Amino acid sequence: MLISFASVKGSPGVTSTALATAAVWPRPVVLLEADPAGGDLAYRCVSAGGGPLPGGKSLLTLAAAVRGGITGSQVVSDQAQMLACGVHVVQGVTSTTQARGLGSLWSEVAEAARGSEVDVIADLGRLDRGSFTMPLAQASDVVVPVAAASLESVMHMRDQLPELVLALRQQGIVSVAPVLVGPDAHAARDCGDFDALLDRTGVDVAPARPVPVDHRAVQRLEAGEKGTGRLGRSLLLRATRLMAEAMLEEGAVAR
Ligand SMILES: Nc1ncnc2c1ncn2[C@@H]1O[C@H](COP(=O)(O)OP(=O)(O)OP(=O)(O)O)[C@@H](O)[C@H]1O
Ligand SMILES: [Mg+2]
Repeated sequence: MLISFASVKGSPGVTSTALATAAVWPRPVVLLEADPAGGDLAYRCVSAGGGPLPGGKSLLTLAAAVRGGITGSQVVSDQAQMLACGVHVVQGVTSTTQARGLGSLWSEVAEAARGSEVDVIADLGRLDRGSFTMPLAQASDVVVPVAAASLESVMHMRDQLPELVLALRQQGIVSVAPVLVGPDAHAARDCGDFDALLDRTGVDVAPARPVPVDHRAVQRLEAGEKGTGRLGRSLLLRATRLMAEAMLEEGAVAR
């Protein structure tokens, strides 16, 4: 299964939500940092060996492998490295120039992610119809647009999601399941308002799921605490676990 997280207009939360989802994903999973603006996790997270993630394996080496004709179902997981929090990650590019340089390989990376033996959660960063990552988004089972629960972020989502959804579905069926990152106390109201707003655009997307603002849990995850232990009871990881379970359940029905 390939799940892509993205923002429509730089509203924060994509990388953290993707990381928190990978940390509680019930099946083996690789987090693919595909944000063309550059990956963040190598700088933010402690590696399983302590200290920063070593270089040598990344989206670039994944692209080189697929260009070299390596197409097996392990090609994505072969380029992953483990973070101390237990998440396996394929480090992203370090610049937009590198992302541009991948050219048509983005489509081949998308195919590799789709054919991966383990589930892949991709962080696409900001996504619009002209993004390098559109092949990955179109190859996904589910695209998760992430917005902050602020008026401006929600309005940008309302304005841009219909066009994005059209672009996503040019190649086939892609579920679109938005996430709203906001204070837990207002989650139900915020998601309800958001759904009502999107409903009026006629765009066919799943009801929004809430992800709470939980700075402490994000910090603990980045510092290397595993999502399977006590941290798993945090607001953040409880929310992403619910989301993960729902996606797998819906995916099992869809396929
Ligand atoms: N659920 C959350 N609770 C608390 N803090 C969060 C949450 N999600 C994101 N943040 C914080 O907001 C900031 C931006 O988050 P993040 O990096 O996930 O956003 P992004 O959309 O990936 O941003 P970028 O455009 O830089 O890729 C980070 O400092 C992160 O710790
Ligand atoms: Mg990010």
